[in-house]
Amino acid sequence: MCGIVAYTGYREAAPLLIEGLKRLEYRGYDSAGLATLSEGRFWIYKQAGKVSALAHSIDGKVVAGKAGVAHTRWATHGSPTDINAHPHLSYDGAIALVHNGIIENYSFLKSRLEREGIHSISETDTEILAHWIAWVRQQASTASWMEIIKRAFAGVEGTFGVAMLVRDDPGLVILVRRFSPLLIGLGDREYIAASDAAAVVPHTREVIHLEEDEAALLHPDMAEPEVFGLREQSRTPQREYIHWDVASIERGGYPHFMLKEIFEQPQAIRDCMRGRIRQEPLEVRLGGISSVMDRILAAPRLTLVGCGTSWHAALVGEYLIEQLVRVPVEVEYASEFRYRNPVISAGDVVIGISQSGETADTLAALRLAKQRGALILGITNVVGSSIPRETQAGIYIHAGPEIGVASTKAFTAQLTALTLLALHLGAVRYTIDRNLHDLLIEKLLTLPDLVAQTLEKLHQPVYEIAKQFVSVTNVLYLGRGYNFPVALEGALKLKEISYIHAEGYPAAEMKHGPIALIDQGMPVIVIALRDSLYEKVLSNIQEVRARGGRVIAIATEGDEDIQTYADEVLYIPDIPEPLSPILTVLPLQLLAYHTAVLRGCDVDQPRNLAKSVTVE
Ligand code: F6R
Repeated sequence: MCGIVAYTGYREAAPLLIEGLKRLEYRGYDSAGLATLSEGRFWIYKQAGKVSALAHSIDGKVVAGKAGVAHTRWATHGSPTDINAHPHLSYDGAIALVHNGIIENYSFLKSRLEREGIHSISETDTEILAHWIAWVRQQASTASWMEIIKRAFAGVEGTFGVAMLVRDDPGLVILVRRFSPLLIGLGDREYIAASDAAAVVPHTREVIHLEEDEAALLHPDMAEPEVFGLREQSRTPQREYIHWDVASIERGGYPHFMLKEIFEQPQAIRDCMRGRIRQEPLEVRLGGISSVMDRILAAPRLTLVGCGTSWHAALVGEYLIEQLVRVPVEVEYASEFRYRNPVISAGDVVIGISQSGETADTLAALRLAKQRGALILGITNVVGSSIPRETQAGIYIHAGPEIGVASTKAFTAQLTALTLLALHLGAVRYTIDRNLHDLLIEKLLTLPDLVAQTLEKLHQPVYEIAKQFVSVTNVLYLGRGYNFPVALEGALKLKEISYIHAEGYPAAEMKHGPIALIDQGMPVIVIALRDSLYEKVLSNIQEVRARGGRVIAIATEGDEDIQTYADEVLYIPDIPEPLSPILTVLPLQLLAYHTAVLRGCDVDQPRNLAKSVTVE
């Protein structure tokens, strides 16, 4: 949430910063700004609106300097105005600072500073932080930035990723991290730091991740960044290598990242399975959790936590694991779990599911579980993000960078990873019938091709249906069993990018309330596969039709009977029930995408949202 880029080196900073901001804009796009430093003066430009507006506004202006910091904002404190945009300048004009996160004791710091006659001009906690650091520096009898930063941040509570410039220290960039991620790209006589690898990868793939409560001083004259702990001893930072390439973070000819990512699903699923399925005998191997298998097998239950789409993946995980492993599974919203004093103890296993690996609530839920002695695991996409760093073991989904704010390929890759986990645990515990085990693995291996065919086949028909959705105000999504979470996911996709109100329900629950919403012509999307609940779902469809609802069925290829029940039918290939969510979600993703585009919505950057939610 919020994107930060910082640069120091031998090149002009401004174009690099703007380019970096564009790559990070999916993290927040309420306002944007940058500061550069040249010959003892800052050049600061900032304004409400997107990075492109900022880039346009500085075109032809002087933005001098070979060091700079920049920010794209998702507003927390203060509305998205020019004045609240980052960077913020300290009262003495010595520090220009950008910040991601929330300073929780900002009212306290503000009053403290006001007593010293230091007042803010914006409504932000970030400006207070800039003043606070400058004030601590003024009081300190040291010129060492390491000391000043330690002292200043000893008085700061909350979460932060901070990048700052100092007017009288040309070339110096200071980074500070608590909770909000920051990584430092290591170039040749230059450093480019950011909250996300997407801004760094075009320049270098060699990086250092700042850990919790760490800060770093970067200067082109220093061969290595000086990394130090805010509270503890400094460590020698580990260099890491990012395997993503630049093409994977560009649109590659697609009009939107979301569409590109929808069509990348075959590859994402393939990459998630790569090296994890052995032939003869067919079996799943998950190296990332092998060291903790004993504890997983001994656990009386598994708890899955996540938010949004990842929470929906967890719900499918519950069906998969309970059916194939016969172990009770609890699925929790991470945000609820962490605040309700959950009954978790040493024997428990808590698995956090998160595309970004940075979602504040999921990370906090895992930390809580760890404090109580549970084994914590992560199912994440972003390599080196906070969740895999803090968990004891886990599974990377390897979906590749997901830039579109609406999660698509991460969802199907999460389902793939959860299926592998269930198959693996089921085999080790002998709870899964061998024939079913082999059949599911064989079918899983065919899924990348089936996903590609389904997308190809349904793209146009879904577009035609989307045309009818342009002016609807409500849509109901129904599914049962494995496909109930898919109904939730379909509704979420439509809401978040097209701003049409949508609800997902277990089909049989409809008659307990939502049926009252149905009137003439209201679209109701029903996942009605030829599976164990087919007849039941047909009855639910009849109930919708009887009230004038317009039924769009997602059905199994070859099922002609369904045509007498539904107004429109979108077919997906026949596949065993546990794997079906990976296919049924595809038309729902496409429908949300096309509807949003036809309604003129900003698909990749829907209003009020940000890609990774690093605040509570
Ligand atoms: C919806 C969406 C969000 C995320 C949620 C969790 O399309 O993307 O609901 O799923 O914010 O994010 P991660 O998975 O990064 O923890």
